[in-house]
Amino acid sequence: MISWFAATAPASVLPLSIKHTRELAALHAAAFARPWSAFDFERLLVERDVYGDGLFLGESRPPQGFCLSRVRRDEAEVLTIAIAPSLRGKGHARRLLHSHLETLRARRVIRVHLEVDEGNRAALALYARFGFSEIGRRAGPGRFDDGERATAILMAADL
Ligand SMILES: CC(C)(COP(=O)(O)OP(=O)(O)OC[C@H]1O[C@@H](n2cnc3c(N)ncnc32)[C@H](O)[C@@H]1OP(=O)(O)O)[C@@H](O)C(=O)NCCC(=O)NCCS
Repeated sequence: MISWFAATAPASVLPLSIKHTRELAALHAAAFARPWSAFDFERLLVERDVYGDGLFLGESRPPQGFCLSRVRRDEAEVLTIAIAPSLRGKGHARRLLHSHLETLRARRVIRVHLEVDEGNRAALALYARFGFSEIGRRAGPGRFDDGERATAILMAADL
């Protein structure tokens, strides 16, 4: 019964709070090579200018995805976005980012920036769908197995 509910419960996007930090750290560790701790998330979520939205599949269940941005005047930077591995490829990031950009628009943000590794095809497709385009490149923080630096693509979109 519980698994049926989890599989069919509608997804909603709701603001994150510090009660979610451990779950966010676990999701982050499953998505990125350099994981952020629960304390990292707590420090971000208490910042006045940081907005975090979570993807929830059922009311009392933990978040299954997140998106955090920092706002500076009328611009914002997407700090991180991820969906639980088992739920990828089902349109959840599209739903999450759509709501998150609405959150930013409601805070009078008119331009959004982000960075993405050039090999991250899923993220590039996601951002293209929301009108993000490349504005530059730089050596990214990531490294390949042979020590070569990954290239980060800098993108921006007007809301
Ligand atoms: C990037 C990420 C958030 C996308 O989440 P998702 O829920 O799987 O994405 P969606 O199902 O909403 O699909 C969004 C778009 O990406 C495309 N896509 C999804 N997975 C893909 C893949 N493996 N390869 C290529 N395109 C892919 C979808 O077709 C869709 O494009 P469309 O709207 O043109 O059809 C998810 O892969 C993730 O958590 N990755 C690890 C963390 C990460 O890399 N974050 C981004 C850092 S910049």
